[in-house]
Amino acid sequence: MDGSELTEERKVTKLKRKFRQMTGPLGVFFEGFVKNPVMVGSIIPSSRYTIRRMLEPVDWANCKLFVEYGPGVGTFCQTVLDHLPRDGEYIVIDTNPLFIDYLNRTIHDSRFHAVLGSAEHVEQIVRRHGHEKADYVLSGLPFSTLPEGVAPAIAAATYRVVRKGGAFLTYQFSTVARDFTALHFSRVDTGFEWINIPPCVLAWGWKDTD
Ligand SMILES: C[S@@+](CC[C@H](N)C(=O)[O-])C[C@H]1O[C@@H](n2cnc3c(N)ncnc32)[C@H](O)[C@@H]1O
Repeated sequence: MDGSELTEERKVTKLKRKFRQMTGPLGVFFEGFVKNPVMVGSIIPSSRYTIRRMLEPVDWANCKLFVEYGPGVGTFCQTVLDHLPRDGEYIVIDTNPLFIDYLNRTIHDSRFHAVLGSAEHVEQIVRRHGHEKADYVLSGLPFSTLPEGVAPAIAAATYRVVRKGGAFLTYQFSTVARDFTALHFSRVDTGFEWINIPPCVLAWGWKDTD
């Protein structure tokens, strides 16, 4: 790299930093989308209505481990931490290093663990953190645009990792995540949230038996 290329690269880095400072989490989310539109699958984070409805059925008093796939810039994170018991733990898994770096820089809570990786490997990740099972798994993944084979692998691994009585919570713009949930979970409740861009299908898959 010659001198002028180096100056140009420094300028771009400086501009990116300035853009992130000015736009906050929305800017980081947008940058993540521009870099990897297929994996992020949405241009804007979920609405507070989606967050509230998704988490409504969670029995927080009995939640020791809450797992989230695809936290992005942490749209759900503060609400989960506000409800989670003091001795609970919260693992978030995302394939995008930009989002994991951002979460590690902005969330300071000893119960919170941000992991760079794919949701397919949830069982190993949960075990690495000293747990066998998760009480709840929340997913914001774009199930319909994931690479071939990834969505079925994630649905199967999630079923194995959720404890009896626990649930798999999904929200997506199509019914694909709900349909994968129904392949494994004995009971699936469904909802729809209009106040979200775009509106989305909500699903709660309950694991009634081992
Ligand atoms: C639509 S965004 C959801 C963002 C956020 N949860 C929200 O509600 O605003 C989808 C996220 O899934 C992540 N992702 C995509 N494939 C993944 C995978 N296999 N494992 C974990 N995260 C993944 C993307 O990097 C992105 O952060």
